[in-house]
Amino acid sequence: MTSDPAPLYAAHLATMQLRAETALERGGFEHLVIPSGTVHYQLFDDRDYPYAVNPHFKAWVPLTRNPGSWLVVTPGRRPRLVYLQPFDYWHVVPEAPSGYWPEHFDLVVIRQPEEASRHLPPDAARCAILGEAQSALGRYGAFKPNNPQPVLDYLDYHRGFKTSYEIEMLRQATQRGVRGHRAAERAFRAGASEFGIHLAYCQAVGQDSTELPYNNIVALNAHGAVLHYTERDRLPPRPVHSFLIDAGASFGGYACDITRTYAADAGSEFQQLIDAVDAVQQRLSAGFVAGRDYRDLHLQAHLELAGVLRDSGVLRISAESAVESGVSAKFFPHGLGHGIGLQVHDVAGFAESDRGGSIAPPDGHPHLRLTRKLEPGMVVTNEPGVYFAELLLEELRGGPHANDVDWERIDAFRPCGGIRIEDDIVVTDADPVNLTREAFAG
Ligand code: GLY
Ligand code: MN
Ligand code: MN
Repeated sequence: MTSDPAPLYAAHLATMQLRAETALERGGFEHLVIPSGTVHYQLFDDRDYPYAVNPHFKAWVPLTRNPGSWLVVTPGRRPRLVYLQPFDYWHVVPEAPSGYWPEHFDLVVIRQPEEASRHLPPDAARCAILGEAQSALGRYGAFKPNNPQPVLDYLDYHRGFKTSYEIEMLRQATQRGVRGHRAAERAFRAGASEFGIHLAYCQAVGQDSTELPYNNIVALNAHGAVLHYTERDRLPPRPVHSFLIDAGASFGGYACDITRTYAADAGSEFQQLIDAVDAVQQRLSAGFVAGRDYRDLHLQAHLELAGVLRDSGVLRISAESAVESGVSAKFFPHGLGHGIGLQVHDVAGFAESDRGGSIAPPDGHPHLRLTRKLEPGMVVTNEPGVYFAELLLEELRGGPHANDVDWERIDAFRPCGGIRIEDDIVVTDADPVNLTREAFAG
């Protein structure tokens, strides 16, 4: 399914405007002012880091390469975009504004960053200014981000609910990511190294490391057990058993987050384990419905994965006991997932309400990043995993539950590292929409 986000943009902006108005009321401010951010430099060096746009800025405009620009939102007025197109013959500068978005703004093009002050509200004290300290503008730092908490609490909480435009942006990002995943699997089957697979992925997606929403995880064999493995060996191991790839793509500032795991041998026990985890993942996906507490889904994942480990002979105790005693967490040591959108790990995963407060993860599950109840419009990941990670297995072997597992079975799986299957799912008021499976099927 391919659809065009552009016709949905005006409605997205209307929602953003409404949210901004309530957020300003909450904080007692008259204007919302958002700098796009600045370029950062390495310490004692003139080399810059890849520019990362302020997410509050790209929530309004699909611009990710425009440092020094500003957005001003005032109730009852068209939003103003102060667009920096610098006079700079060292670099390629941003193009003149074009596309579906400029017509919705009171647009001012400036040539020097300091010129922005002339187009911002005259009294900075009446502005909620959301940004990094380094964006402060004006000789006396008048336009200094103050990041008022009530304003952030409101906007961050509601960012959990995607507009129809945002869901299409995420769909586009996912289609791009799936192109990369297909190319990566082909490269793996052809015997490429981790580095070679990464390059094949980037080529197919048309993005390099600075454009991808996070650092690709491309792991062969036991490297799959390192949750955030980003080393990329230049030579393939011999023999090759398995391949875990967690890689996303960006589209207009939105991210996708996809993981797949493959066995080199389709007839292997590791392939059977992958199939079992995949079945668990799909069963869980069906439960991504409005009203469901994400913490319960996480605990269900533990129970079901422990069942898989028991069926495959790794666990010698019941799934229930393994979850109860914490043994399941030695094999599934991360959370079931997180919100996704403008950031791969979207903000406000723990938010209790749009006035602040925090919902803690369940005891014994400190790495769960999403504890909210699912509601229509949320887009969240579903990423159960099973790993044979040296450090965690050592803890298990040295602890009171060492006899709850079959170490020979564990040793048989160890060279394959681990399994994670990750999809991005839209919660609706009916059945969930799985953006990732939809793109793989397309
Ligand atoms: N790619 C990081 C994650 O899955 O959360
Ligand atoms: Mn994820
Ligand atoms: Mn991921």
